[in-house]
Amino acid sequence: MPLVRIDVLEGHTPRQKVEIEAGPCRLRRWRMTDLDALLRHADNPAVARNLRDLFPSPYTRADAREWLGDPLHDVVPLSTFAIEADGEAVGGIGLVPGRDVERFSAEIGYWLGEAVWGRGLATAALRAATEYGFARLGLRRIFALPFATNAGSSRVLAKAGYRLEARLADSAFKEGRFVDQELWAALAPTWRGILPG
Ligand SMILES: CC(C)(COP(=O)(O)OP(=O)(O)OC[C@H]1O[C@@H](n2cnc3c(N)ncnc32)[C@H](O)[C@@H]1OP(=O)(O)O)[C@@H](O)C(=O)NCCC(=O)NCCS
Repeated sequence: MPLVRIDVLEGHTPRQKVEIEAGPCRLRRWRMTDLDALLRHADNPAVARNLRDLFPSPYTRADAREWLGDPLHDVVPLSTFAIEADGEAVGGIGLVPGRDVERFSAEIGYWLGEAVWGRGLATAALRAATEYGFARLGLRRIFALPFATNAGSSRVLAKAGYRLEARLADSAFKEGRFVDQELWAALAPTWRGILPG
């Protein structure tokens, strides 16, 4: 089980401290001191290529400052995390809850700097964030929409216990082309993703 430690810190504004131990990595709040690491890992077209256009490319110092200063990091309960490994932030993972009739459903998104790909970090982070979404955010369903060409991400989702539900033809427009997205989902009642193996 990942260790989920949540403390609401008293102060001018109550802030929630969440640290999720996820084996080879740890999920925790983004902080201003992550600026250099964030820039180093995020400013890479090979990362941005598989993400929404919302993720800047090139990723400038101003983009990093804007992200780290986003009020999203003060929302309680916290749903956006830095992925920390080797003592620094090497990527990010976040849950975006739906609204209205979709309020028990959330989209999950994640990225890692290319320097740390292939070490199992994304799979560990995804399992831990999914567990957090079900256990702490009370979600029923968590889904992801990787581009169909993103075989690495599809593999991560499968390894983490997500199921492929559909292929959404031409549902995204990225780098001047329509691309298919895959719809992967995990459901709370059948979630077993954090079990080993
Ligand atoms: C996709 C991404 C998160 C994977 O992170 P990671 O830490 O390298 O993932 P893991 O090490 O946990 O697992 C990767 C798995 O995909 C496999 N894989 C990687 N590239 C692959 C490819 N082109 N084809 C098939 N499998 C591939 C790896 O072999 C591994 O599977 P295995 O353990 O069975 O060998 C990372 O590459 C990334 O951040 N990419 C850019 C942003 C992005 O795509 N985010 C996801 C958007 S939906």
